[in-house]
Amino acid sequence: MSQISRAELRLIYDSRGRATVEARLTTERGAVASAGAPSGESTGATEVLAFPAGGVPDALQRFESELRGRLVGLSVDDQVAVDRMLHEVDGTPNFSRIGGNTATAVSVACALARADERQQPLWQTLLRPGLSGPTYPAIVGNCLNGGRHAIGGPEIQEYHAISESPRPDEAIRAGLEVHQQLGLRLRAKFPQAALGRGDEGGWVAPLGNVEAVALLADVCAEVRDRLHTSVHPGLDLAASEFYREGKYVYRERTLDPDGQVAFVADLVDRYGLRYVEDPLQETDYDGFAALTRAVGARTLVVGDDIYTTAEARVAEGIRRGASNAVLIKVNQVGTLTDTLATVDLARRSGWKTVTSHRSGETPDGWLAHLAVAFGSAGLKCGLVGGERVAKLNELLRLAAPTGT
Ligand code: PGA
Ligand code: ZN
Repeated sequence: MSQISRAELRLIYDSRGRATVEARLTTERGAVASAGAPSGESTGATEVLAFPAGGVPDALQRFESELRGRLVGLSVDDQVAVDRMLHEVDGTPNFSRIGGNTATAVSVACALARADERQQPLWQTLLRPGLSGPTYPAIVGNCLNGGRHAIGGPEIQEYHAISESPRPDEAIRAGLEVHQQLGLRLRAKFPQAALGRGDEGGWVAPLGNVEAVALLADVCAEVRDRLHTSVHPGLDLAASEFYREGKYVYRERTLDPDGQVAFVADLVDRYGLRYVEDPLQETDYDGFAALTRAVGARTLVVGDDIYTTAEARVAEGIRRGASNAVLIKVNQVGTLTDTLATVDLARRSGWKTVTSHRSGETPDGWLAHLAVAFGSAGLKCGLVGGERVAKLNELLRLAAPTGT
């Protein structure tokens, strides 16, 4: 058992240039581990609060006055004790006093310090029961942005290339190829328009919602044929973001909840989607269940805002057959212990997990280890931009430590 001898929290900036926090823990045996915490923009209503009311300055001040002293002396071997202490000191149901991002940074830094002491990669330290070695996730790679992550794009928030291979290098290459080819197609289609990229590195273009799905599906098919690899289209609709007074409001059409289920089911079948995240607004378990009954055999139906990585909400989803997969974001619940409870419940219940970044990211690589440790079906971390590539590169490193 090795105790924490020093604990520090500092302000750093995320990929949107907004302040967040990074924790650094030192152990008495000399391990040093740092972890930064990311931030969302299209957050779920039930996720913990990233920061206390006064933002990062308040988070730093509370860390100094209430957490630092409690951390020193705890063992990095006892993740549960560290995470329990974070909850105790906070004392609220949603980390509104110390901030979920402080909790996330400390919790992940503790696991990294433990891995360092054991001279193991992080994925091995956190490997879930039933897994005997690494299996590599599909890359859920953001190619086109809309919604709150882009200005001027469609309402659907994210258009992904779902790239599957037992070899992460091949999966990453196919995802990048779709991103690049899509960029070329958009340049040809809109020669006069200024093309941009959204918060997660996907292109932003003046496309309609379905027009964008059709274009993505076409590019995936072209890359699939050329590289002889499994790469298929997928969406994160983030449907709560365009749900107004009982209706889903797209620029082309307005749909009631039944219409939305039918619309998404049709997109799955027409365009061969392998992944649909948050197809309904975040309280509609019945709508999720109807869609899962309709297309769940052919595609992953993934809940993000509906579950916010919380074990109790996922348990409810399982009881109601609301989806067949759950998105995993540590800072939606604030600690690794809470995250692992949700991952283990999903695994025991035959659900898939998809381990995910946030739209505001840090250059940390630890997310790739979590995806492998959890045996996740997918690693959702974007494709381009330094903070996204950091996760992809870490996946390459852990899959082939010597670079072979
Ligand atoms: P967020 O969105 O990180 O902005 O919350 C990502 C998502 O909806 O998956
Ligand atoms: Zn989402």
